[in-house]
Amino acid sequence: MSGYKTVKVRGAILEEFRKPFVIRDFEYQVPDDWVEVQVKAVGVCGRDTVVWKGGFPNLKPPILLGHEIFGYYNGEPVAVFPALVVSEECRKKMDADPSAMCGVGEVVILGEQFPGGYADKVYVPEWNIIPLPDDDFAKYAAATCGVATLMRAARVSRLASGERVLVTGASGGVGIHGIQYLKLIGAEVYGYTRSKERAKVLEQLGIKPVTSLDFYKEVGRMDVVMELVGKYTFNDSMRSLRSRGRLVLIGNISGEPIEIKRPALFVMRELEMHGSAAYSKKEYEAAIKLIGEGVIKAFYQKFPLTRINEAYEIVIKGEILGRAVLEP
Ligand SMILES: NC(=O)c1ccc[n+]([C@@H]2O[C@H](COP(=O)([O-])OP(=O)(O)OC[C@H]3O[C@@H](n4cnc5c(N)ncnc54)[C@H](OP(=O)(O)O)[C@@H]3O)[C@@H](O)[C@H]2O)c1
Ligand SMILES: [Zn+2]
Repeated sequence: MSGYKTVKVRGAILEEFRKPFVIRDFEYQVPDDWVEVQVKAVGVCGRDTVVWKGGFPNLKPPILLGHEIFGYYNGEPVAVFPALVVSEECRKKMDADPSAMCGVGEVVILGEQFPGGYADKVYVPEWNIIPLPDDDFAKYAAATCGVATLMRAARVSRLASGERVLVTGASGGVGIHGIQYLKLIGAEVYGYTRSKERAKVLEQLGIKPVTSLDFYKEVGRMDVVMELVGKYTFNDSMRSLRSRGRLVLIGNISGEPIEIKRPALFVMRELEMHGSAAYSKKEYEAAIKLIGEGVIKAFYQKFPLTRINEAYEIVIKGEILGRAVLEP
């Protein structure tokens, strides 16, 4: 039976919700057979900022965040698949089927229930290591989670080629990268951003941008809406859907409860609502391949890990196009 070893990393620690991170040494225990990855780039996911705000009440500080982890393992460039599978049965299922996912309790997310990658090193089972096509780590840290997330959401919502899909929060890390994938599979893609400037970038990517909050008036009837913003746009997203349209709830930036203002609309249009959570290992690998081939263009701004608090300030204010990428 294998034992445990104590490891020490230098990272940015969330000591208290909504307070600046503290750079310090951090010790934790991992199974003996886990391997060390030298972190070279780690993305600041919208999900991390929800944790920072205290939006996941099951998580308690101190927390070492970060699941979009890229770096060197044995001198080779790698990605770290961020789900630690604790059920052997589910791991086999994931290996066999690209769409297979683990259920609640079968999986633990790096950077949440277990220390993650806002640090110089991270420790994971070898199964979680995925070879990278090259060592341009920042582009993968910026785009992989977003592409894999909307790949999953497309599957969950049965999005078909030629269908009309609207994505809210389209200029954020998940949005700007994920919409490129939706375009690739032949959907007619609309993106909601509050920023006129970022709308121009969406347009250059072949996306139809909308910038007014009552966007439902502009876009007509959508087959699918992918909701990344949550509370602030949820009701307008519902109104944008055609009869029997599908709403996929992927994120809720504020972490606060969402109120359905017009339940009758939900009933009368016979709308469908789905949740889409994370992605399988195969989806993560597929996203890496598309980024490596240059099919997906990455948008990001780099920060040394020591300037994480500056990066967070900019991300929380919504002043970034794509991802903030931290470099330890
Ligand atoms: N389910 C999953 O698998 C999964 C995976 C990853 C992330 N997520 C979730 O998806 C959400 C987005 O993640 P992300 O990484 O893209 O976050 P992000 O990079 O911070 O981007 C969020 C975007 O939302 C828009 N936004 C922010 N505040 C807003 C407001 N008050 N009203 C309208 N729009 C607002 C901003 O766009 P503009 O400023 O251009 O309007 C911003 O670019 C988060 O809630 C995250 O938890 C879910
Ligand atoms: Zn992420």
